[in-house]
Amino acid sequence: MDKVNDYLRVAQETASEAGQMLRQNMENAREISYKGIVDLVTNFDNQAQQMIFMRLSSSFPEHDFLAEEGLSREKGAEFRWIFDPLDGTTNYAHRFPVFCVAIALEQKGESLLGVVYDPMREEMFWAVRGKGAFLNEKRIQVSSVDDLDRSLIATGFPYDLRESEVNNIKHFNNFMTRVQAIRRCGSAELDLCYVACGRFDGFWELKLKPWDVAAGALIIKEAGGQVTDFEGEGFRSFSPDVLATNGLIHKAMKAILHLD
Ligand code: IPD
Ligand code: CA
Ligand code: CA
Repeated sequence: MDKVNDYLRVAQETASEAGQMLRQNMENAREISYKGIVDLVTNFDNQAQQMIFMRLSSSFPEHDFLAEEGLSREKGAEFRWIFDPLDGTTNYAHRFPVFCVAIALEQKGESLLGVVYDPMREEMFWAVRGKGAFLNEKRIQVSSVDDLDRSLIATGFPYDLRESEVNNIKHFNNFMTRVQAIRRCGSAELDLCYVACGRFDGFWELKLKPWDVAAGALIIKEAGGQVTDFEGEGFRSFSPDVLATNGLIHKAMKAILHLD
């Protein structure tokens, strides 16, 4: 456990440092480049990634790494860090203050810990496998809402929504008239953490990447929630389709995802 505490401490310090850097630069000019028509990246995504990689790789040189902005160092190590240096980059580019730094650690392909830091609200969500989930120092748990009519749920849309028919618009329409309300905040990792602490009752999204979900999925599970794919099968960080709920509305949300 000592080692795990060490991994957790470094992950939290690193997320906090990178988050503060992002916060300090939010009002500054940024260089924006485009990966697709609507898929952008800023120089601060890259700067945060570099900061996080430097810190983690100097602390744990023997570990593997995977991160959004083209970082993959795979040596077949027992431990692999998966991180998104800036989740919510479109928000960040527009100075809409909803974004986070998300860092997860896997051991032999299984999630061991997850840290999601929102520097605008100074909220650090975190979990260690088998030890519960926390927001800063306080233990968190999912909501007890068991009725879709009373549920506030969240989703997001893939960057290829203009080119692909598998774009979530059908699911969005189907949910719209069956739940209390839907939010689209622009950071999948924060959406997952908001399910974990009961602000949202459920979340679904498709075509996500491991760095969008690795930390948040563990945090939800440790907060007593359920995370699966759309078939209800066990979720892994490489599953692109994610259904994450308080457990009580899981079956009802899954049924809506299977409507035409
Ligand atoms: C995106 C955000 C967004 C989600 C997208 C992700 P990025 O990540 O998590 O909420 O809808 O699918 O790609 O590009 O801001 O790191
Ligand atoms: Ca992301
Ligand atoms: Ca990102």
